[in-house]
Amino acid sequence: MTTTQSPTVLIAGATSASGVAAAQALHDAGARVLVAGTSAERLAERLPFAAGRYAADLSDPAAAHALADRIHDEVGPIDGLIHLVGGWRGGKGLAGQSDEDYDFLHRNVVTTLRNTSRAFYADIAASPVGRLAVVSSTAVRQPTGSGANYVAVKAAAEAWTMATAAGLRAAQSGSKQTPVPQHSAAVVLVIKAFVDAAARQRDPEKDFAGFTDVTDFATAVAGLFDADAAALNGTRLSLVPRA
Ligand SMILES: NC(=O)c1ccc[n+]([C@@H]2O[C@H](COP(=O)([O-])OP(=O)(O)OC[C@H]3O[C@@H](n4cnc5c(N)ncnc54)[C@H](OP(=O)(O)O)[C@@H]3O)[C@@H](O)[C@H]2O)c1
Repeated sequence: MTTTQSPTVLIAGATSASGVAAAQALHDAGARVLVAGTSAERLAERLPFAAGRYAADLSDPAAAHALADRIHDEVGPIDGLIHLVGGWRGGKGLAGQSDEDYDFLHRNVVTTLRNTSRAFYADIAASPVGRLAVVSSTAVRQPTGSGANYVAVKAAAEAWTMATAAGLRAAQSGSKQTPVPQHSAAVVLVIKAFVDAAARQRDPEKDFAGFTDVTDFATAVAGLFDADAAALNGTRLSLVPRA
């Protein structure tokens, strides 16, 4: 990390393999890493090195704002928000897309992102290296009927992130009154699926072609803080490994 010595980065939904890897890479690169998830036990067990651990249900807007208040009191403003809260539900064909699954996916994927990004937007806009990153799926542009609920909410999360990017651009390089060099960026990272060492070990025969190793994902996340914000803002970056 060269741009700023120690950005403060919050990983929302940090206990999965991708979250732990991203937290470790950011920590190793010198960031102050804060992590959030629903379980204080899982956060403590999987992320002992984090500078701050926060148990919160981020689908609740009041909880997301309370989290922001607490972090502001205890640590100060954040620079980066890596929003990883996700989830998967499929169904048989289009007719098999249940309302219950849609509600679950919408709450986990869209509502949590709306909550965290609004609660921390002012921080990201004010930071010299403000970053919002979300992870989307190649399925959004190659949908199937069986994944309709899922791709609908992931497309919504992408649109929300692009709207955030537009807001950051309008406030900085695109400002009509007082344009400044772009220093904040919102970005969509695109994968097909994650794989980690444990999954490879569990299933040594499986072909993980096209899967993104969580260590490569983590390197990309840490690299966001060294990238040019103007070039990064509003982009959809593929992290799918080339064949
Ligand atoms: N996994 C894949 O192959 C894949 C493929 C395409 C895209 N993606 C996207 O990549 C991102 C990360 O995926 P992932 O599979 O690593 O993680 P994930 O399991 O989808 O979610 C990350 C973490 O979010 C936490 N979480 C769930 N509900 C929450 C809530 N209401 N409030 C706060 N935290 C909550 C969970 O931890 P706790 O249970 O400990 O709270 C979970 O470990 C997601 O956006 C996902 O859609 C993943």
